[in-house]
Amino acid sequence: MRVFPAADFARFFPSLLAIALVLAFSGCARKELPDQTSSNAQLYVARCGQCHAPYKPHTMTADMWRAQLPMMEDKMRQAGLPPLSDSDREQILDYLTANAGHQ
Ligand code: HEC
Repeated sequence: MRVFPAADFARFFPSLLAIALVLAFSGCARKELPDQTSSNAQLYVARCGQCHAPYKPHTMTADMWRAQLPMMEDKMRQAGLPPLSDSDREQILDYLTANAGHQ
């Protein structure tokens, strides 16, 4: 068995720390989504987290979400992603508006 000298550990420690921090933060970010185990939330993450991390519902009002959704459907079309079905759109909008922020 090879014993690593302390100098090796010191050299790798910063990258280990960086990895730990990234994991901790991505874990946190996911936890911040409300009601995250619901099927609506999971559909939202699956469809709206492909190009960017899913935005937190409380960062926009319900009206803003209603306006944002068609713009994102344009982006999906441009990217060649499968379009939202009527029920997808309804579930995602339900999720976002139920957890939306207030002005
Ligand atoms: C095909 C890639 C793609 C998908 C899928 C996608 N988005 Fe986006 N989204 C973008 C891009 C690119 C931007 C950057 C801003 C822009 O160009 O309008 C963005 C920006 C946003 C913003 C920030 C807008 C602002 O004015 O700050 C929100 C909110 C958002 N998306 C929500 C959604 C929601 C909700 C869905 C699911 C219905 C979704 N996105 C799916 C590409 C995508």
